Amino acid sequence: MEQTTSLAPAGLPAPDAGQLARAQRLQQHILRDIAAHGGWIGFDRYMQLALYEPGLGYYAAQPGVLGAWGGHSDFITAPELSPLFAATLARLLARIGQAEALHDIVEFGAGSARLACDLLHELAADASWLPRQYVIVEVSAAMRQRQQQAVAALPADLARRVVWWDHLPERFDALVLGNEVLDAMPVRLLQREDEGWMERGVVAAGDGALDWGLRALPVGTRLRPTLQCLPPGSVTEWHQAAQAWIGTLADHLGRGVALLFDYGFPAREYDHPQRSAGTLRCHRGHRVHDQPLWQPGLSDITAHVDFSAVAAAAGNGGLHVLGYASQARALLNWGLLDILAPRIAGGGSEAARLCAGVQKLLGEHEMGELFKVIALGRGLSCGASLVGDGDRCAALD
Ligand SMILES: C[S@@+](CC[C@H](N)C(=O)[O-])C[C@H]1O[C@@H](n2cnc3c(N)ncnc32)[C@H](O)[C@@H]1O
Repeated sequence: MEQTTSLAPAGLPAPDAGQLARAQRLQQHILRDIAAHGGWIGFDRYMQLALYEPGLGYYAAQPGVLGAWGGHSDFITAPELSPLFAATLARLLARIGQAEALHDIVEFGAGSARLACDLLHELAADASWLPRQYVIVEVSAAMRQRQQQAVAALPADLARRVVWWDHLPERFDALVLGNEVLDAMPVRLLQREDEGWMERGVVAAGDGALDWGLRALPVGTRLRPTLQCLPPGSVTEWHQAAQAWIGTLADHLGRGVALLFDYGFPAREYDHPQRSAGTLRCHRGHRVHDQPLWQPGLSDITAHVDFSAVAAAAGNGGLHVLGYASQARALLNWGLLDILAPRIAGGGSEAARLCAGVQKLLGEHEMGELFKVIALGRGLSCGASLVGDGDRCAALD
């Protein structure tokens, strides 16, 4: 017994009565799910319910969770942090869209639709290339509603280009985007005991609370080879859902490129002995905590991305890795500083705000180094790395 739902992590914003009631309902739902599955569910199943259970889960019930500091948000992402993220991507997408005769953008997990709206504004201002359609694929109905409100405020010619897909068409050609989507996909948890790796799941504690429970892995389970670097006692994540998602993308993407931004590492770094506690984290009120079983649905739950597994899943599905670099390196290569220069020439508070945002996007101790971008694609005429100098594809093996 390591943790029950009654232990509140220190320093978090206290839930209000409505949040507590929703967390209780979700917890009861999870307990029924555990009972229906014979007394134990994998952490991936728990994470799916805690984040996405319709009407109750973190993303399914609280569309205000991501955004600017203050208010009721829990964390902030690159497109929310600085308009220069979208401006830099707009320049790249226009270049690839024109060169490769790709006409649509498809964004997965669009959050507040900030990136979608800013990209469309930037592309319209430049006027060299505008997508015929800007498609959003979003699992949470509540987030989709927030996106629809944001898109409704766009000029009519831009708003009419935005559509939502419930399912992927058999085949589509597009420029695909996903910012911090892979880290929000459910993970399985592995724990190394003296006798080998076991799976950490969730059980009922007996007093209506939730607790951890260990299970043997099915005979013949194949784990990534680098796990052998982690000592007994280690806990780590297994990103099966993200790998399956990449496989689905590979099945449906005809010609095009997917740019996926997220925090994470190649497998060799992921399974470094110093990371023996894993990377699972929870966010609430711009604080980080490590108790995912506490008040389900009130905290974001996330794990760093294993980019080697992403690359391998892409390769299995016939997609090529067209580049892999730190976010800072890619944004610099794509011209972020050239875009920034004229926008800060006048000085003043807006210039200071833009510079502070760029500092966070690029700073080694902020998002610049921990965040990476991987470019996956097929059928493009250009054979060069899409991230340019500083491509680290070789580290993914
Ligand atoms: C951490 S938020 C990032 C939001 C936004 N991209 C940003 O950068 O601000 C993750 C988003 O991905 C969505 N999501 C998670 N899994 C998804 C999937 N398989 N397909 C589409 N959206 C997904 C969540 O509902 C949420 O909107």
